[in-house]
Amino acid sequence: MDILLNLSIKKPALMKIKNLLILSLAFLAACKSSVPLETEPITIKGKFANNFYLGTALSLKQINELDSIQSALIAREFNAYTAENVMKSMHIHPSKDTFNFAASDRLFDLAKKNNAVVHGHNLLWHSQLSKFFEEIKDSTEMVAALTNHIYTIAGRYKGRTLSWDVVNEAVEGDGSLRKSVFLEVMGAGYLPIVFKLAAAVDPKADLYYNDYSMTVPVKKAGVIEMVKNIQAAGAKIDGIGMQGHWHLDSPTIEEIETSILAYSALGLKVAITELDIDVLPRPKNVEGADISQKAEIDILNNPYTAGLPESLVAAQTQRYKDIFELFLKHQDKISRVTFWGVNDGDSWKNNFPAKSRTNYPLLFDRNNKPKLAYDAILSLKD
Ligand code: G3I
Repeated sequence: MDILLNLSIKKPALMKIKNLLILSLAFLAACKSSVPLETEPITIKGKFANNFYLGTALSLKQINELDSIQSALIAREFNAYTAENVMKSMHIHPSKDTFNFAASDRLFDLAKKNNAVVHGHNLLWHSQLSKFFEEIKDSTEMVAALTNHIYTIAGRYKGRTLSWDVVNEAVEGDGSLRKSVFLEVMGAGYLPIVFKLAAAVDPKADLYYNDYSMTVPVKKAGVIEMVKNIQAAGAKIDGIGMQGHWHLDSPTIEEIETSILAYSALGLKVAITELDIDVLPRPKNVEGADISQKAEIDILNNPYTAGLPESLVAAQTQRYKDIFELFLKHQDKISRVTFWGVNDGDSWKNNFPAKSRTNYPLLFDRNNKPKLAYDAILSLKD
């Protein structure tokens, strides 16, 4: 069994073999003791076990297993975990010489207990950034700080991390490189450097670039150019994370498909890393996931506090079905599909782009009950 665990697992299929072995042993034991065996429930992680990892983002509360019903759901339905917040630099590396690993250690322990993998989010992001990075003005000092940051964090979880978002959201909507402190101090050369640092410290982990609005042509072109430059500089990059903060009507399936194909054509894996389908009106037509964009709440923006109308439930169900049909079609290119949260009540989409709205973007309702969208994707043919 340990041999299976130690293999570098590409897809969850090996975990399935291991589970089958465990099940067979349990069956033999049950026959011996004449205890009736329960049949294994159908779950989304089981449904897609031979296709791609099926993941979720976990909040601190969920990592700490404070809600036993939700903890059981997380263990049952998902086989890949991403920390929604606790591994961002302001939390995990709050000041130059302070690291806070309490929550991330618990995340890795939980994954081990539940036989799930961990995707690290993230090693470098301009947002939720520790203040001390912002104060660095010199490129040698910045390289030293990044080396310490990446070696200490990725080094701690070396061999236990499936993959990392090495760089998050470094491209602007117009395709240019984001004017972050890293670009300001080091120029575009910071990008291959951080990928090289991550590869040096954990050579087996897959290294991703992760961003939102990845289907918008001008941004896609900018990301592709950036990735080609990272590759040309001799750095290892293994994948592209398309965040998947999508709406009922946009992007179109065709736009998602051409984007998956374009990123895959770079020789990279594609992960759908932060999937949710927003069903509310878009104040000021906000797209993507730029959290600096905020809109005031008003009744027009928050119309479904008492429940989602049937027509929208049906539209979201169909939308999830279409999207997963596409994922299955391109399963050879897709490594992982991760939802950004467990149930509708947990979602960041209740607070973006306007605060305190009632949104319904995920597969489980506020009582942790599977929605029709869940049934729809379970019923898909491979
Ligand atoms: O924990 C504090 C709490 O103590 C305080 O009372 C409360 C008051 O507002 O804030 C809480 O922190 C919030 C935190 O989420 C935990 O809920 C922060 O204000 C809020 O800014 C933070 O938002 C997160 C956001 O990233 C910024 O880090 C969202 O939960 C998280 O879903 C979102 O995730 C990002 C991905 O990392 C990158 N891609 C886009 C995606 C959506 O913005």
